[in-house]
Amino acid sequence: MGINYPAATSRSSELYDRGKSVIPDGVSRSTVIIRPHPVYVDHAKGAWITDVDGNRYLDCNNNFTSIILGHADPEIEAAVHSQLAKGTAFSMASEAEILLAELLCERVAGCEQIRFCNSGTEAVMGAIKAARAFTQRPTIIKVEGSYHGTYDHAEASLGSDPSNWGLAHRPATIPYSEGAPDSLADEVVIVQFNDVAGVTEAIQTVGSGLAAVLLDPMPSRVGMPVLDPSFAEAIRTGTRDVGALLILDEVISLRLGLGGAQALHNIDPDITAMAKIIGGGFPVGAIGGKSEVMDVFAAVHGNRAAVPSGGTYTANPVTMTAGFACMSQLDQTSFDRLADIGDKIRQGLRELFASQSLEWQVTGAGSLFRIHPHQRPIKSYRNAHLDSDESALMESLQHRLLEREVYFSSYGMGCMNLATSDGDIQHFQDAMDVALRVVAR
Ligand SMILES: Cc1ncc(COP(=O)(O)O)c(C=O)c1O
Repeated sequence: MGINYPAATSRSSELYDRGKSVIPDGVSRSTVIIRPHPVYVDHAKGAWITDVDGNRYLDCNNNFTSIILGHADPEIEAAVHSQLAKGTAFSMASEAEILLAELLCERVAGCEQIRFCNSGTEAVMGAIKAARAFTQRPTIIKVEGSYHGTYDHAEASLGSDPSNWGLAHRPATIPYSEGAPDSLADEVVIVQFNDVAGVTEAIQTVGSGLAAVLLDPMPSRVGMPVLDPSFAEAIRTGTRDVGALLILDEVISLRLGLGGAQALHNIDPDITAMAKIIGGGFPVGAIGGKSEVMDVFAAVHGNRAAVPSGGTYTANPVTMTAGFACMSQLDQTSFDRLADIGDKIRQGLRELFASQSLEWQVTGAGSLFRIHPHQRPIKSYRNAHLDSDESALMESLQHRLLEREVYFSSYGMGCMNLATSDGDIQHFQDAMDVALRVVAR
């Protein structure tokens, strides 16, 4: 066993104590919390992170799927350095924005035009606002348990549980943050992932009030289920029938292929929300879509656009340069290699579960995977939802992996970058072998 976690005398623990006095709960992202103390990073390179105590970890999270080439990629670093020397942000336009927009429009079929923003949250929020403005309608339909960032409407029913999630064919709309307006229940209708009959009925019921259906094709919090093509088809046909839009959230799934998940699943969205990998490691978001819809962002019909959008750091040249340096290095070979890494990880896990007689399973595609400490079929959120014992098991797995130099999320989501070598995959496998034995005991 390599690393002592938790370590009351570590620099990470000391920093957490300091952080707590000026930041509620010590850190600004609830997802980086590990109890009893988070791990503070000093630096990272390729597939590995080094913490402030000098411990090294194979990164199986990659900043929640935003790092794709590997940490501190030399080409991104060089491009960003050169931009830093030229200035970082101006209230004037720059060519860097056009370069990244051209690259994305060429690759992602659903994007004829793009507007940038600073996060996936903003991209989904902007997409919803665009759909509402385009259709002049208020309501959206979203999938139970699916994460789309922290905008009130987009996070409805993200944390539903058996005590409040309601009927299977008509899930309840549950606000995620306390204090969300009651109107949320009228403005967001919830369906279950892969429930063809449920989504068809919901679209028809909301009918002329429906602005859009919001869909992530492989939602991580729903367990990374396999998308049933007839579910995507029912959404596409149903939205067209009632004059509503399909918003595809590709914030994560863009890392599944050169043209994103829409190319893999043959989905034709009206709006695509993007973020994470397209910023090359810097804060980013983008709303892409068909020109007639994207027109809501243009001030062509008067002095003001139907949906004014901006942001002090939107399309800043550092992010745009980093994003272009990252995305232009990715080709079909990169995505084939990412899929190969993911396949080896998933296959290795299946072999471990079998050899240890564990009734566990793994889902996912490409460089993404999710471990489930049970064998319920993963079709929707309700099957994937962990009870408190299962959650405790996954947290314990995270701790046991930290001790063995692997950084992994607390709920079983994994993501690998392109710098991951076959030796690193073996390291993951060996660490997991021991960690699973300890946890399952
Ligand atoms: C599918 C999806 N949509 C939207 C978001 C929000 O992106 P951001 O964290 O950049 O705001 C995330 C973040 O994890 C996500 O996974």
